[in-house]
Amino acid sequence: GSGGAAGPLAFSPISPVDKSVDAFTVPGGYDWRPILRWGDPLFADSPEFDLHTQSAKAQARQFGYNNDYLEILRTKDGRKALLYCNHEYVNPDLMFPDTGGPSQAERHAIAKAAHGGSVVELERASADEPWAYVRGGKLNRRITADTEFELTGAAAGTDLMKTADDPSGRRVRGMIGNCAGGTTPWGTILSGEENFDGYFRAAGTCPEEKRYGLDSEETSNGWEKTDRRFDARQDGFRNEPNRFGYIVEIDPNDPASTPVKHTALGRMKHEGATVALARNGKTVAYMGDDERFDYLYKFVSKRKHREGDRAHNKTLLTEGDLYAARFQGDSDPTQIDGSGKLPSDGTFDGSGTWLPLIKNGKSAVPGMSVEQVLVFTRMAADKAGATKMDRCEDVEPHPKTGRVYVACTNNTKRGTDGKPGADEANPRHENRDGHVVEIEEAGGDATAGKFRWNLLLVCGDPATNDATYFGGYPADKVSAISCPDNLAFDRSGNLWISTDGAPGTIGYNDGLFRVSLDGDRRGLVEQFLAVPREAETCGPLIHEEEGNVFVAVQHPGEDGSFAEPHSLFPDYVTGAPKPGQVAAPRPSVVQVFRTA
Ligand code: FEO
Ligand code: CA
Ligand code: CA
Ligand code: CA
Repeated sequence: GSGGAAGPLAFSPISPVDKSVDAFTVPGGYDWRPILRWGDPLFADSPEFDLHTQSAKAQARQFGYNNDYLEILRTKDGRKALLYCNHEYVNPDLMFPDTGGPSQAERHAIAKAAHGGSVVELERASADEPWAYVRGGKLNRRITADTEFELTGAAAGTDLMKTADDPSGRRVRGMIGNCAGGTTPWGTILSGEENFDGYFRAAGTCPEEKRYGLDSEETSNGWEKTDRRFDARQDGFRNEPNRFGYIVEIDPNDPASTPVKHTALGRMKHEGATVALARNGKTVAYMGDDERFDYLYKFVSKRKHREGDRAHNKTLLTEGDLYAARFQGDSDPTQIDGSGKLPSDGTFDGSGTWLPLIKNGKSAVPGMSVEQVLVFTRMAADKAGATKMDRCEDVEPHPKTGRVYVACTNNTKRGTDGKPGADEANPRHENRDGHVVEIEEAGGDATAGKFRWNLLLVCGDPATNDATYFGGYPADKVSAISCPDNLAFDRSGNLWISTDGAPGTIGYNDGLFRVSLDGDRRGLVEQFLAVPREAETCGPLIHEEEGNVFVAVQHPGEDGSFAEPHSLFPDYVTGAPKPGQVAAPRPSVVQVFRTA
């Protein structure tokens, strides 16, 4: 893949958009349209969205809030598709008025119903038309913070998982904080429960609770006041937080299926998981823990993938080996001084080892049982000596080359007050802008125990920051990029990166960027779109062959309030709103398409 300016997704990069601008910005020759917005009715009996008369009952039948991971699975004739989207969290200050409106208990119930995920059928008259969602589609489904999940893997059913509501330790209600994700080769959706700690009020006294950020403060959501399972200080609920922080698997083709949480992939602030099939047929899942100084992980299934055997393949993530990554630089460590200046060999690079935490069904960590490793995975990786990373967000294997890309979004604490200093894989102190790691597994084998790595990008605005690096491409010819978060690939093999945090670092709205990986163009970063004021760009999906790009626009106008919105995305209502429109920001899934 040459990347290249030609082809169905040819574009001229947009200029960066100032953070004060409340607009969705696309290149010349393209237009955009929302497909699904917070509150859109998904079922025949769903109430129309009404900002001023919300209820939990209505929200559970409508598209949820803060869409993140996005997948669109097309049928062969290209006229129908199935969309999956996560709803990571909510912004109650934007959803509800300060006074009046729903009661506190109802607000909590609405918030819970606005979490989780949505499966929604799409249709179009031809491949030249934008997609529209099908209200009442047979496969449409809402998953919320109250939907029943089944726990799988070796930690399921153990004492660490039992609560007063679930003495079996196998049934959990809800998924929360679902951020990025991936689609398996057998057509199911994986997604990561990320910031689950913030939903629980806990004693916060034992090392396990502390290591996972659980404390005794009132939570900002406040659910512990109206739903006892979120108050882990209570007898019988101490283990409830142990039941969150997993990779979940959802079968979008079976609305009656019970979604699962896979304990075999460990418990952490899971950003997401993406799967590669190894040459020997084993399934390998790559995963990041999005916390400062936490780790990169991979899982290798015990059993092998069987083409076409969906029931078998849905068991692959229940049992296997679990590893955390150690990175070793190849340059003199004294040359890695935290400035971001390249070492004398010209690259941040080196070798790496996948440190076993679980191997052949047994704990590889002295002093920890299998279930302890799976539930307190961070502590297992601490003991194994994994490398403390700058917040691993999306981790994705390239579909053609098998190289694995890791978005390290930022780490402003690196090298500060007694915190770990720079190393070659995380080379900047107070890393504000983040970087992208490229990993090549030994022998090109996804199950390998060793790898080589290099930094593809050391992000920032080259106009104001000389400690940036763009795969060797001239820094004065690339788009400024900060805080890489979600990753995707196009058919030509280019990497696409969406960002979260650029307004606060380089002063521009977050966006979506294409990065060439090969040849003379390697490291060329070109901005494709920018999201509106205070929004994050999530779930990028590139259907290059159809000239379409999709993003989930999360938390538009997040620093505003119900009374004083900072964004009116996506409808920008002026005058009399059409049915279903409101003069308030609504997280939405957007399709970008060619007009010329
Ligand atoms: Fe929900 Fe790590 O971003
Ligand atoms: Ca080096
Ligand atoms: Ca993310
Ligand atoms: Ca992020």
